[in-house]
Amino acid sequence: MTASDVRIAADLDALSLSAAEAAATVIEAAVRRAGRCAIALSGGHTPRTLHEQLATRFRDRVPWTHVHVYWGDERYVPPDDPRSNYRMAKETLLDRVPCPAANIHPMPTHLPPERAASAYEATLRSAFDGAWPRFDLVFLGLGPEGHTASLFPRSPALEERVRWSVAVEVPAEPPQRLTLTLPVLARAAHVFFLVAGLDKADVLRRVLNDPPDLAACPASALRHAEGDVVWWCDARAAAHLGT
Ligand code: 6PG
Repeated sequence: MTASDVRIAADLDALSLSAAEAAATVIEAAVRRAGRCAIALSGGHTPRTLHEQLATRFRDRVPWTHVHVYWGDERYVPPDDPRSNYRMAKETLLDRVPCPAANIHPMPTHLPPERAASAYEATLRSAFDGAWPRFDLVFLGLGPEGHTASLFPRSPALEERVRWSVAVEVPAEPPQRLTLTLPVLARAAHVFFLVAGLDKADVLRRVLNDPPDLAACPASALRHAEGDVVWWCDARAAAHLGT
């Protein structure tokens, strides 16, 4: 088991600045190498500050016209709903950078859940020429009970090895979600976890220090991801790592 790459910053602002700088570097390299870059955004609150950094300090460094934006998961709400991950990304990042609308691929929550999951898989199949998706960069968050994307403890979706995206019911609001599956997330060239706040300290310690336990702590499965996994944390989230 390779050691985890944990980067600890003083606070959320510092963590977001460092992670945004690293993200810009990954995106630039991908575009230099392949002429394009596919990233998957996370939802929740933590990514907001990083999005702000990408939309301002790093706006002119990132080759946005060559970047394709996807989502790791989405709440099953309309795109203008305050709980929508798409809406959060639109407000904090996508409305502020020259990423073409054709390059922005929200999860289709206007379709019935199972059809939305299948439609998103078709979108990915087209984007990755039918091969298993290999995102250049996936942003992920960490829930206090160990979930990531919308893969929650003891979810049947944790066993999914064929489908690339699935509709799930989760013990959080809103309960209906769409999520990429673990095989897709784990294939990314780079995975950036963004973890901030004392309420994440215990789960982060479990994820990084305890033996991986997929059912109880889905995020721990990403410790065996194929690519580089970086855990971008603030000091509060890292408070229990030495214990
Ligand atoms: C979502 C996210 C989810 C999130 C974690 C952490 O749709 O809510 O994808 O996995 O990343 O719950 O959320 P915070 O950043 O708000 O703590």
